[in-house]
Formats: sequence, structure tokens, C-alpha cells
Amino acid sequence: MKKIAVLTSGGDAPGMNAAIRAVVRKAKVLNIEVIGIYYGYQGLVEGQMTTLQVGDVGSIIQRGGTKLYSARYPDFKQSDVQDQAIANMREAGIEGLIVIGGDGSYRGAMDLVKKGFPCIGIPATIDNDVPGTQYTIGFDTALNTVIDAVDKIRDTATSHENLFIVEVMGRDAGDLALYAGVAAGAGAVIIPEVDFCIEDVIARIKRGEYRGKMYNIIIVAEGVMSGTELARLLKENAGITTRVSVLGHMQRGGSPTGRDRVLASQFGAYAVEALVAGKKGRAIGVRNHEIVDYDLTEAFKKEHATNLALYTLATELSI
Ligand code: F6P
Repeated sequence: MKKIAVLTSGGDAPGMNAAIRAVVRKAKVLNIEVIGIYYGYQGLVEGQMTTLQVGDVGSIIQRGGTKLYSARYPDFKQSDVQDQAIANMREAGIEGLIVIGGDGSYRGAMDLVKKGFPCIGIPATIDNDVPGTQYTIGFDTALNTVIDAVDKIRDTATSHENLFIVEVMGRDAGDLALYAGVAAGAGAVIIPEVDFCIEDVIARIKRGEYRGKMYNIIIVAEGVMSGTELARLLKENAGITTRVSVLGHMQRGGSPTGRDRVLASQFGAYAVEALVAGKKGRAIGVRNHEIVDYDLTEAFKKEHATNLALYTLATELSI
């Protein structure tokens, strides 16, 4: 293998740049040229590509976002659009593609594999919802961003004895809300993987008030409902007044944590090795501290499973 390509796709995640850097530099070690594709699959179809030299990925390990830009591109589901992508890569002499993104991005990669083009997926999303890997690039950074925000909200909530609802991203997954809830000591955590019960949330708030807690913080994952909707339910069902804070896209930004940088570096290098070894249609992941590869289809055939033991712990510790 003499030439490979790399792209970032879907919602960006801190650490994507570290993964791009690792791909380029590991490839250099193995004497392979790397082509960077701009704007994900859209750029691939439009032929927006550039050669990435070792120096081009210098000083990006610490930067959030993605140097290659990203896009959501629903048209990539069309067979003729995929054919165009493959034709562009073959014309440029590209023999394999590394896709850095979430499970949605993996579907596009799998379609290319079915058409005979080797692809490897690297999981990168703040949602941590890619089945088959315990962690995705960007999750740890986003988690620390949420913790920092909740800590700050707690300061003012305590001073004014307010009840705050903090709405956290995650699409259909509750990992970000759950881990942040544990780490920031939230009074209640509401995630899509556990049936929602307004009476239970009210009981938790009342229990806190009974033992003299004058402020509270509830974290709600966007996949369950918006913070505003939860505020309305609390008001209507129990007359409880709340303040709502929607953290929004700040959760996708920022300099990646050490953990995300290391994971991204490991994933990037492993992906290059996998392509060179002739693997195709494989996803890279981490399981019990070990970097592994597994069938790409596993990543969207299976449902994302959150850590329910951690949910139990969150409820136990927030009595
Ligand atoms: O998948 C990452 C993510 O940030 C989700 O948490 C969120 O639901 C979604 O992307 C938002 O996407 P967009 O930026 O396209 O609105």
C-alpha cells in the first residue's frame, strides 16, 4: 500500500486533529503517502483533497475541531454518489480510506467496503455511542467541559438557592449526562436508557429539600427531552420553579484532554497498521485498555449500551 486517505465526518469531536496527525505520521513511518479529504464524504465526492506532509499536522494535537473540516452528507446513501467517491480515489491512486467519525459515518464506510474499497473506521464523537468500543474520541473532553460548566452553575445555584436544570448533548445516548452527573454530583440524572418518571424526579428534589438542601442541579440528556420541557413538567406537576441552562455546542469544542489525545493517537496509528495488514471494513475501538478492531457492521447492528451500574451509583450517591 503506497497511498491512503483520511477524512473526518459528522459532528466534530475534540481529538479528531490528534487522530489525523497520528494517521499521517504513522503512515510516514511505514513509507505511505496520506491524502487529506476536506468536508467528509461531500469533499470526497467533489474531489476536495490535499497531500498531508508530516509538517502539515504539526501543532494540531492540542486543537479542537478538525483541520480537515467536517460535514453531514445524507446524499452519500446514493449508490451513484458512492461510485463517484470511489472513482475519485482510484484516479488519485488512493488504495484505502480511514474514516474518523461516529456510527453514521461508519455506514458510508461500509457502503464503500461493499463496493470493494478498503475502509477503516475510527470512533470520534462526544456522544460515546459507538457500539463495540468503550470510549470514543472526544467524549472525555466533552465530559470535562460539562463538569466545568456544572461546577460553575453550582456556585451561583448555591448562592441564590436555585434549582438548575442543565441540558446536555448526546443525541440518543445518555453517557455524557450520566458520567457528568456522577462527576459533578448532580441531584438527578435523566438519560434515554432509563424510563423517565417525573414523580421520581420530584421525589428526589423534595427529599433533598427535606434534608435541608437549598439548591439542586438536575442533568437531563437531550435525548429524553429539552431542559425547558422538564422545567415545564416540574412546574405543572409540583409547582417547582427552575432555571434552565442549555450547554449546546460548547460541548463539542475545546482543546482535547490528555486522555482523548492519547486515545486518538493510538486509534490513528492502529488504523494505518490495519489497512497495511490488508484489513477492510473494520472499526477500531478500545476494550479494557486494549486497542482492538472489529467488524464495522457491529457498530450499527448493535444498540449502544450505557453503563447502567454507573446510573445506579449516580442515584445512590445523590440521596
Ligand atoms: O453527535 C454529536 C452531536 O453534538 C450530538 O450530541 C447532537 O445531538 C448533534 O451532534 C447536534 O448536531 P448539529 O450540530 O448538526 O446540530
